[in-house]
Amino acid sequence: MGSETVILVTGATGMAGGDVCAQLAEVPGVEVRAAVHSPEKQGLLPETVAAVPFSTDDPATVEAAFEGVDKLFLLTPGGPLGPPATRVVMDAAKKRPLQAIVKLSSFDPHGEPQAPTDLWALETEAMVREAGVPFTFLRPPWFNQNFTRGYFVPMVMQNMLAMPFGEGRAGWLDTRDLAAMVVKALTVDNHENKIYTPTGPAAISLTEIADSLSRATGRQIGFMHLTDEQWVEAMLAVGRPEVEAHATLALISKTRDGHATQITDDVERVTGRKPRSFEDFAGDHAEALTGIANTPPPPPGAAQ
Ligand SMILES: NC(=O)c1ccc[n+]([C@@H]2O[C@H](COP(=O)([O-])OP(=O)(O)OC[C@H]3O[C@@H](n4cnc5c(N)ncnc54)[C@H](OP(=O)(O)O)[C@@H]3O)[C@@H](O)[C@H]2O)c1
Repeated sequence: MGSETVILVTGATGMAGGDVCAQLAEVPGVEVRAAVHSPEKQGLLPETVAAVPFSTDDPATVEAAFEGVDKLFLLTPGGPLGPPATRVVMDAAKKRPLQAIVKLSSFDPHGEPQAPTDLWALETEAMVREAGVPFTFLRPPWFNQNFTRGYFVPMVMQNMLAMPFGEGRAGWLDTRDLAAMVVKALTVDNHENKIYTPTGPAAISLTEIADSLSRATGRQIGFMHLTDEQWVEAMLAVGRPEVEAHATLALISKTRDGHATQITDDVERVTGRKPRSFEDFAGDHAEALTGIANTPPPPPGAAQ
């Protein structure tokens, strides 16, 4: 037990961190320590993974979680909370002789026009660089799992993806492929101080995504383009803060305006496997997606 490499996985109950935990748990010689923010979500973790309480709102939990840790998978909230949360984690991380930090960042944060999320991503990357620990940054575009576990689940419930994406295309990525990259970066040499842009195999539109979801669920799931104003209004109506409504709008607009079409071979170069397509993702999650598509949406005004 003592000779194992202890890896702290933050965001362990979320989309990306959940897959990282599941895959790291299979690696011999690794002891996974899952940082759990909401205790009621602990049941989502693999049984072999040790969970520790962890909230960046309570720095004492963060300090305690780092006890004996050798390496870190760093994920913090993507909104304006990202920089202060990353600061709390890095303050604790700097007290440990860490061997590696793999940080989840954002797609093409230098690309114009810069969205607020790009600036937050660069600010948090700088905090990691400052620590002087070997780092790997992963800058993926949108995750497919937003439709099963994330932001877009209520739209699958409504059988209508209503967003201001227009015909904008992006290399939507499966978090299982992202996690496979994280595992390599944390357990194999040669990924130190590298930046990767993992993408799915093709730049696809929301119309194509809706078609894949329709095939997987047997329901007719459509895509409806919203205006920017309608998007902000819809976000505020479900209780999202204004700063978040505008930050996601800026990110979606970049995709709509053709700034997220880049496709790379980073997943295959690092993992040896081609990334899964959105069609693969929808097929693999057909049962879950069908359950979501058959669930009545939350009433208007209900918090999500
Ligand atoms: N989603 C995408 O399409 C996408 C694409 C590219 C990059 N990213 C980046 O991915 C990150 C978000 O990860 P995700 O997409 O996997 O989101 P997610 O599924 O919402 O997971 C976020 C995780 O962070 C935890 N968390 C939230 N607040 C916390 C706090 N104060 N202290 C400690 N843990 C906290 C959550 O726990 P609870 O659920 O218990 O609150 C959850 O486990 C962001 O940095 C974002 O920029 C996301």
